[in-house]
Amino acid sequence: HIGQGRVLSIQSHTVQGYVGNKAAVFPLQLLGFDVDPINSVQFSNHTGYPVWRGQVLNGEELWNLIEGLEANDLLYYTHLLTGYIGSLSFLECVLRVVEKLRSVNPDLIYVCDPVMGDEGTFYIPQNLVPVYSEKVLRLASIVTPNQFEAEKLTGCSIKTEADALHACKLLHAAGPSKVIITSLEMNGTLLLIGSNLRSKDEAPEQFRITMSKIPEYFTGTGDLMTALILGWSHKYPNNLEKATELAVSSLQSVLKRTVADYLAAKIKPCVKQLELRLIQCQDEIKSPQATHLAERY
Ligand code: ATP
Ligand code: PLP
Ligand code: MG
Ligand code: NA
Ligand code: MG
Repeated sequence: HIGQGRVLSIQSHTVQGYVGNKAAVFPLQLLGFDVDPINSVQFSNHTGYPVWRGQVLNGEELWNLIEGLEANDLLYYTHLLTGYIGSLSFLECVLRVVEKLRSVNPDLIYVCDPVMGDEGTFYIPQNLVPVYSEKVLRLASIVTPNQFEAEKLTGCSIKTEADALHACKLLHAAGPSKVIITSLEMNGTLLLIGSNLRSKDEAPEQFRITMSKIPEYFTGTGDLMTALILGWSHKYPNNLEKATELAVSSLQSVLKRTVADYLAAKIKPCVKQLELRLIQCQDEIKSPQATHLAERY
């Protein structure tokens, strides 16, 4: 196989704007990966707008694409990346995809953003939760839940940093050796917590990165974050801290640039209609400055 990284990315597609595959594919390509997108939905725009139209792919249609690839011997991937999944049948099909890809490459890294909801509300049917916690986690190499998702996956409420560190240990026990809780709000500060389990007999290495909250509502940031964590942890497989520092720093400079561009254009985006300026941020994605450093616990 030529090259070093080939990612199968199963996520949403929007005609306009940058969420799902539109937020993940281009950054991963900039980082040097071959990226093969499967669009789990094709919508006109993300669902934060008043109206959206489009199509949803079902589990059978996903499997059909996998069979087409298989018939031509095209199922060698180094990474599988999944984000928002809206139905039980699709999630169950994703489980079959992981197993199929691992039968071709036993070293396949599965990066799972277990998208369930945020800030106390679900945006998936709740019957997916036990499938994530009992089946998906077991197969995942890296998971990137937010605070809400980490609570649902572990059944523990997360009120303090100590709770979050404990949740990471429970998540390790369920499968993934790398856990990133991508956002936690603790007394007004925004933080990310990372946890890397090097061996089952040792305690995981745990760290945090603090970020200042920009007073805007962005969409696609979770998807971009998980893609950047995949990208940088492939370059630094033995240094999750470094990989996460680069992912966070890169994302924060994309957000800064996005706000600056909207201000310069004198556009006041309506709530939830601020699109990431990904194309304009190629330098920040390809060569981020490490502005946000990890602190080890
Ligand atoms: P999921 O995709 O699982 O829902 P999530 O809730 O962590 O994950 P986001 O809330 O989109 O996803 O956050 C992703 C990253 O972007 C986090 O590290 C977060 O700190 C950062 N981020 C999002 N919004 C802002 C903001 N307004 N100011 C600063 N950072 C932000
Ligand atoms: N995918 C679709 C189709 C969406 O509509 C949205 C948000 O509205 C997302 C993904 C969002 O993602 P994120 O959690 O990255 O902000
Ligand atoms: Mg969030
Ligand atoms: Na997340
Ligand atoms: Mg999200």
